[in-house]
Amino acid sequence: MKDKFYLTTAIAYTSGKPHIGNTYEAILADSVARFKRYQGYDVFFQTGTDEHGQKIEEKAQASGKTPKEFVDGVADVIKNIWDLVGVSYDKFIRTTDEYHEKQVQKIFKKLYEQGDIYKGSYEGWYCTPCESFWTESQLVDGKCPDCGREVKKSSEEAYFFKMSKYADRLMQYYDEHPEFILPVSRKNEMVNNFLKPGLQDLCVSRSTFKWGIPVDFDPKHVVYVWLDALTNYITGIGYDVDGNNDEKYNKLWPADVHIIGKDIIRFHTIYWPIFLMALGVPLPKKVYGHGWLLQDGGKMSKSKGNVIYADDLVNFFGRDAVRYFVLTAMPQDNDGLVSWEAVIETVNSDLANVYGNLVSRTIAMSNKYFGGEVCDGKVYEEVDAELKNVVKATRDKVAAKMDEYKIADAIEEIINLFRRANKYIDETMPWALAKDESKKDRLKTVLYNLTESIVIGTSLLKPYLPDTANKVAEMIGVELREYEVADKFGLIEKIKVTEKPEILFARIDAEKVMDKVNAMIEERKEKVEVKPEEKKEEKKPDVKLHDHSEKEPIEIDDFAKVQLKIALVTACEKVEKSKKLLKLTVKVGEETRTVVSGIAQFYSPEQLIGKKLAMITNLKPCKLCGIVSEGMIVCAEDNDGNIAYLTPEKDIADGSQIF
Ligand code: MSP
Repeated sequence: MKDKFYLTTAIAYTSGKPHIGNTYEAILADSVARFKRYQGYDVFFQTGTDEHGQKIEEKAQASGKTPKEFVDGVADVIKNIWDLVGVSYDKFIRTTDEYHEKQVQKIFKKLYEQGDIYKGSYEGWYCTPCESFWTESQLVDGKCPDCGREVKKSSEEAYFFKMSKYADRLMQYYDEHPEFILPVSRKNEMVNNFLKPGLQDLCVSRSTFKWGIPVDFDPKHVVYVWLDALTNYITGIGYDVDGNNDEKYNKLWPADVHIIGKDIIRFHTIYWPIFLMALGVPLPKKVYGHGWLLQDGGKMSKSKGNVIYADDLVNFFGRDAVRYFVLTAMPQDNDGLVSWEAVIETVNSDLANVYGNLVSRTIAMSNKYFGGEVCDGKVYEEVDAELKNVVKATRDKVAAKMDEYKIADAIEEIINLFRRANKYIDETMPWALAKDESKKDRLKTVLYNLTESIVIGTSLLKPYLPDTANKVAEMIGVELREYEVADKFGLIEKIKVTEKPEILFARIDAEKVMDKVNAMIEERKEKVEVKPEEKKEEKKPDVKLHDHSEKEPIEIDDFAKVQLKIALVTACEKVEKSKKLLKLTVKVGEETRTVVSGIAQFYSPEQLIGKKLAMITNLKPCKLCGIVSEGMIVCAEDNDGNIAYLTPEKDIADGSQIF
């Protein structure tokens, strides 16, 4: 029986599109999930969205939507971004899911009935973005001590949780489980700043807004968003307060690790364990609070138009390059920095120069000297041993770093393997061996050793760069190596590499790309600078209706001429000087295409990015506003000229045929 491994991310607020910082966490957790699967664990990986609270209610109101409509839209955007960057979750929970809401109500009731929650009243200062109440003395310069923003005076009748009742037990749990909080430095912070001064009772209901899970026995109140959100980790796998737990819960709980950001460690290492103790549920084994990915050169802000989003990065550099960047940009105990320039630099140095170059040189030489055939020539020299030792030791080094959640260090071990292999090329000089017929077998061995090194390194790299690893395996013509034998050198017998290797990571021309990026930022800046009066003005779209007349019957063969496929929008922008046109970049299976579509008055680029749409893919290309359009997005149009795009009823791969 394989051991289970249950891991979770924090669930993201559905207050807006997540930036690359939030997306980092999903990629980080994904790399852990994939590595554990590779090691043979029976992994269950849960992520999702945190959808209640005042902030979301306000955002929904501002956008003229009901809260549910609003969160449905944002949850979709978040899920699509997670999918775009390859997050291999087993479960995507939403706190508006019915089963979750029901359990939260039952949990609240149970805690009330057993006396852990009581009714009282609260007078204090409320920070809307943090959904937190503060006492006068907790404020810093009159502002929220967590985020530094303005707070509002507020008083309400509310339910409270008796936190202090469990403080000693929690402290004891910390002592008996030194591995519970990672990094360890955070444990002292929790003990010294919160537990030792004495835990305050926690306000666990709100009555000043509506968008939350109602307390079923007192519906004026909604459950505090953190009590609601934290329980996702058990409701998502089938916990039931009455004891009718799902098999899945019995198998998976306690969680092996909650992966969260450093700002919410307190919620996960104080409130959450205490709620669980009160419910009589075992505590999670570990909470890992990672650092933050910050924008280099200043805060990301929508008004500056400089917020970096994962989908933009994927559009420019591809999914694996983005995964690689964020995973390696983050040292464990610190924050990391992200900028467009830094991504370009990393792709060019590590991925193009070190890894890509090694793979392309090795395949090219195998083709040039042996018609693509690779097998061991069995002529060994001393220099081989050093390479082999580095390669064979890598698996265990990577695993040790992963056990400590030092992802950047784990990847560094693999890149070092590739660096060592590049050095081996310089040391053995295959081009010189090729000139001497008597060295043919030695040359075979050199290329064999290089190929083995690539296969092992690539197998270890797959959890981080899954697409690239599969591509390399295909180009070399081997299965990647199972974890159990990823420390064994020399398992390949005879293989034939591809004649036409694909360039894995082309060197990026920084200047050219930055011109495009800056143009994109400028455009976004302009958009948010629109004056409020202008924004309010409701403009009727001035599109002409399409031809709505009934058409003549056609043969099925006529319809069969039209090729319709599902296209994933990976980027989208307005076409300059045009009110109607949007330029979309879409992924249709293996292909990326540009499509110009006259839907700018109905959809903003942000509404389309990440969406899967129906598209005609075999129309002859045409030029619109100077841009070559390579397809047509299919839309429905009613008699008033309202337009809606068509999207598959459930998630299906882009490139899928529509019949
Ligand atoms: N909804 C709460 C979590 C509830 S978990 C029961 C929340 N949501 S969030 O959307 O604000 O953040 C989601 C996660 O992203 C958190 O773990 C947070 O720390 C993390 N990050 C937010 N900004 C980040 C960066 N700039 N960099 C890295 N992680 C970031 O908090």
